[in-house]
Amino acid sequence: MSGLDTPDTLIDRLKETRTLTREQWVRLITGCDKATEAWLFDEARAVRHSVYGRDVYIRGLIEISNICKNDCLYCGIRRSNRNADRYRLTSEQILACAEYGYRLGFRTFVLQGGEDSYYTDELMCELVAELKQKYPDCAVTLSLGERGEKSFTRLFEAGADRYLLRHETANPEHYASIHPPEMKLSDRLECLRALKRIGYQVGSGFMVGSPGQTAENLAEDMLLLQELQPQMVGIGPFIPHKDTPFGSRPAGTVELTVRLLAMIRLMLPHALIPATTALGTLDPDGREKGILAGANVIMPNLSPPDTREKYSLYDNKLCTGDEAAESLNSLKKRIESIGYRIVEERGDYKP
Ligand code: 5AD
Repeated sequence: MSGLDTPDTLIDRLKETRTLTREQWVRLITGCDKATEAWLFDEARAVRHSVYGRDVYIRGLIEISNICKNDCLYCGIRRSNRNADRYRLTSEQILACAEYGYRLGFRTFVLQGGEDSYYTDELMCELVAELKQKYPDCAVTLSLGERGEKSFTRLFEAGADRYLLRHETANPEHYASIHPPEMKLSDRLECLRALKRIGYQVGSGFMVGSPGQTAENLAEDMLLLQELQPQMVGIGPFIPHKDTPFGSRPAGTVELTVRLLAMIRLMLPHALIPATTALGTLDPDGREKGILAGANVIMPNLSPPDTREKYSLYDNKLCTGDEAAESLNSLKKRIESIGYRIVEERGDYKP
């Protein structure tokens, strides 16, 4: 039966049942042509409009540190990259970013950084509590990598609302081939499950086109998301960074990334899905393409301008133009020109 499934019938099935088998995912991912794509995007937008209307949520991204104990083979801030110019922001600097962001209209702050032991539970809890006290109408999202369940619990009790931790790839062998030996997919999944148990709105996701990735791996990513049911899903194309072992590998494509984004929208209609910086980096219209494929979040950069280029996960990472938080007005116009509107709200998950 499933051997005869065309991409069009698979999209119908996905709409009806919100799931596919592994074989069906592979078939949809490999068999999607331009005509199917147009229909896929139409359906993804229809689902998105039924849950979130035409609202686009914004998140002020504060890149708090590029110091990282990990050595992920794809990442420009991996610990063995001697060429990275390392920095970390103090609590005062982070609070100043938030103050500026609040005035611009941001009602969610995302504190993202490498796994840097400087940011102890004590420091982070104090910072989160202060942010929540100063801006009670704002959500605080953390993206600080793997920590223990106790640590996640303390941060949640201090007021953190959401946590972003991409699983990167759902296949254990593929995971092992793009990470150092001490990192395990099972640890990452344990963190994600703990975060959900504690009560965070949880974000996961993966890179598209990372070295060695197959269509089967992507099918496994979809099945994992299906099982995990995260409130947020971030995906972006892999982009090489010159000072990493994957520096000369080809980048993932915008085309495949936005198709997968639309499929995720059909599978998880309520998810908060960003049109990521990596999409915008590979294609000047990447973010718009993401929104038109069903994304509903944009994360402009709110880091201090002099640190932005140091948070270099991959080559040519956008941090100026409409990627910069201070260009919000110009971003608003671009989003309006494609029929959507940026709203200055927390933008919580709608169950
Ligand atoms: N290309 C694309 N995305 C990358 N990330 C890290 N390095 C790269 C790269 N070279 C992504 C990872 C991580 C997120 C913060 O950035 O998926 O979870």
